[in-house]
Amino acid sequence: PRLRLDVVSIFPDYLEPLRLSLPGRAAERGIVSLAVHDLRDWTHDVHRAVDDSPYGGGPGMVMKPEIWGPCLDDVCPDDAILVVPTPAGVPFTQAIAEELSAATHLVFACGRYEGIDQRVVDDAARRVRVLELSIGDYVLIGGEVATMVMVEAIVRLVDGVLGNAESHRQDSFSDGLLEAPAYTRPQTWRGLSVPDVLRGGDHAAILAWRREQSLARTRDRRPDLLAGEPDTDHGSRG
Ligand code: ADE
Repeated sequence: PRLRLDVVSIFPDYLEPLRLSLPGRAAERGIVSLAVHDLRDWTHDVHRAVDDSPYGGGPGMVMKPEIWGPCLDDVCPDDAILVVPTPAGVPFTQAIAEELSAATHLVFACGRYEGIDQRVVDDAARRVRVLELSIGDYVLIGGEVATMVMVEAIVRLVDGVLGNAESHRQDSFSDGLLEAPAYTRPQTWRGLSVPDVLRGGDHAAILAWRREQSLARTRDRRPDLLAGEPDTDHGSRG
């Protein structure tokens, strides 16, 4: 495979949806391989305990280094990139997805949100590239859903996964703007019409309209994406 994915979790069944949809089909076609590992396989005690109370006090539990360490020694070779989903991470973006889609081996270490003992990350970083990544400013129960989000964003960018190599170059965010709205037949539906310009066949006019719509949407919904952008294209070609 072009890209190998390993995911470690205490809820391996939770990752099953990854086998469906796009990543799953990429796996069937041999472009991407996916293995899910149960962290508890690296426990030795009868209780299969993976966490303990935090030094310094506070709520919740912290995942034990003596379980994660040997697990990552086995699952994460030196030439892999280790991704640790955490709300305390660097924001995961389309640019990071593009970078990771060119990797050969990614390992995702799913912890509960209170976290994995930091020494696990610090120790792994002595031999592999480690990225602590957040998928957004909200708190999930654990890293599993965040891993699914990131895997889906990454795998669709891997060469050969999407039918049309062009189709992701125009995605929202790849040009820093939100996508323009899309329409298909019928021309009129429940009294709502498709914008005339899209049916006119004037390709330059269509591009200009989409650019205008992208800018308007971005200003309205995501002004943060335009902060620091040069203040151009106020419908000048539109
Ligand atoms: N684990 C819990 N919340 C998360 C988030 N927002 N991003 C990544 N991993 C998480």
